[in-house]
Amino acid sequence: MTSQPNAQIPDGCAFVIFGVTGDLTHRLVIPALYNLAEANLLPEKFCVVGITRKEMSSEDLRASLLEGLKKFATRPVKDDIAEKLLYCVTAVSADPSDPASFDRLRERLEKLEANRNTGGNRLFYLATPPDAFAPISTELGRTGLLKEERGAWRRLVVEKPFGTDLASAKALNDHLLSIVSEHSLYRIDHYLGKETVQNILVLRFSNGMFEPIWNREHIDHVQITVNEKLGVEHRGSFYDKTGALRDMVPNHLFQLLSLVAMEPPSHFNAHSVRSAKAEVLAAIQPQSEEEALRNSVRGQYTAGKVDDIEIGDYRAVKDVDPASTTETYVALKLTIDNWRWAGVPFYLRTGKALGAKRTEVAIKFKQAPFAMFRCTPVEELSQNFLVIGIEPVEGIALQFNTKIPGPTIAIDGVEMTFRYKDYFKVAPSNGYETLLHDCMIGDNILFQRADGVEAGWQAVQPFLDAWQKAGAEGLEPYPAGSHGPEAADALLKRDGRSWREPK
Ligand code: BG6
Repeated sequence: MTSQPNAQIPDGCAFVIFGVTGDLTHRLVIPALYNLAEANLLPEKFCVVGITRKEMSSEDLRASLLEGLKKFATRPVKDDIAEKLLYCVTAVSADPSDPASFDRLRERLEKLEANRNTGGNRLFYLATPPDAFAPISTELGRTGLLKEERGAWRRLVVEKPFGTDLASAKALNDHLLSIVSEHSLYRIDHYLGKETVQNILVLRFSNGMFEPIWNREHIDHVQITVNEKLGVEHRGSFYDKTGALRDMVPNHLFQLLSLVAMEPPSHFNAHSVRSAKAEVLAAIQPQSEEEALRNSVRGQYTAGKVDDIEIGDYRAVKDVDPASTTETYVALKLTIDNWRWAGVPFYLRTGKALGAKRTEVAIKFKQAPFAMFRCTPVEELSQNFLVIGIEPVEGIALQFNTKIPGPTIAIDGVEMTFRYKDYFKVAPSNGYETLLHDCMIGDNILFQRADGVEAGWQAVQPFLDAWQKAGAEGLEPYPAGSHGPEAADALLKRDGRSWREPK
């Protein structure tokens, strides 16, 4: 994370991780805690309590976390810092199907807190599959572990996916909010931990030149692309029930969309920012079933090669139904029903096993009138895009027309690019550092609020419903390593537009 001079050191606390033996903890959470420790951003009075379903010794847990840290760290691991961090880790077993184990957890936790003098502040991090959110939180509620008392804070952090459709997301919100207040609930979307994503707000609202043209008068359309090279790999069981739309759109792509499209918040605080984001998501125009089918493309990858590596057919992935109709690619056309964006399409696409990894938001400005060039050799003007690059290049690029040097008038499109790495020397992070740090200091600005989550599901629900009825009809195969189904090109072509391809 950016080593900012004024970053706050959190209060002492117990960091309790459910799912401590899982992939997410090893791959992201512990490496992020390590990076925070290295940046001196963990409190001195701190303990990590790793909850395991089966009994496990703290020594074994520490050894496994250290192995994970060495494998997934984003920077060289310094032994003294790793040791200090892991020394704080204690394994405690608890299983929501055995309520007595949560009573024991409470006792153990209170002892550990007294030993480490953490002041009773607690953060419960659910790095578990989503079906465990409700049972674990129920037990945390029943045992009073989440109850704020004697000035100590208690927080609950949940990972995505938050629900599988509008109804389940509402039910999960209702359940969690019956146990903790919205302010103490942190719904993680790791996209908001990315510096370039956070920078969208800064780009828009700290520079005088963009906001006056950030509207339907000047913007022709917006493209949001999250293309991945990886296939589904070992996640067949999760993915086949989920698909590209649920996995990526109401969360990651809508975070990008809402930051690009929201109205300026009146304050840079969690309430104002989250209200503005939820409001714009709620303004996404609902689509009838017919419109949803017309404005969407679903694809599924077939065998092919990505960077010379053979990728098998999606339907042959372990735990995937051999007749699966789950989409591994989705493209959507959405419109936002408000004054700023009326008539400006937002095209979204994301998919797996594609030829190139690319995450970006591209804002296409309206074409300049051609009139002035009519009597010159210029045949066409190239497109004006402002591109917010998230991967592989973190930066911002502006595409504009310029004169090709020479005696006649000839014009070509060129690109002016700002790259983070050219300006800022920051130690590599995994994006979770900022989020975990914010949970500990009690800042919800980068976390989703109930209304935002529900507005996101509301916007995608017509597509889920229409596709469920359509079954296999309309599912477009695309070879791994390609740029996705042809139908996604046609989606823009019929509006006289095309996806931006990098030069
Ligand atoms: C996760 C999805 O939330 O985001 C994965 O479950 C996806 O399927 C990943 O690969 C993409 O994240 P990033 O940061 O690599 O764009």
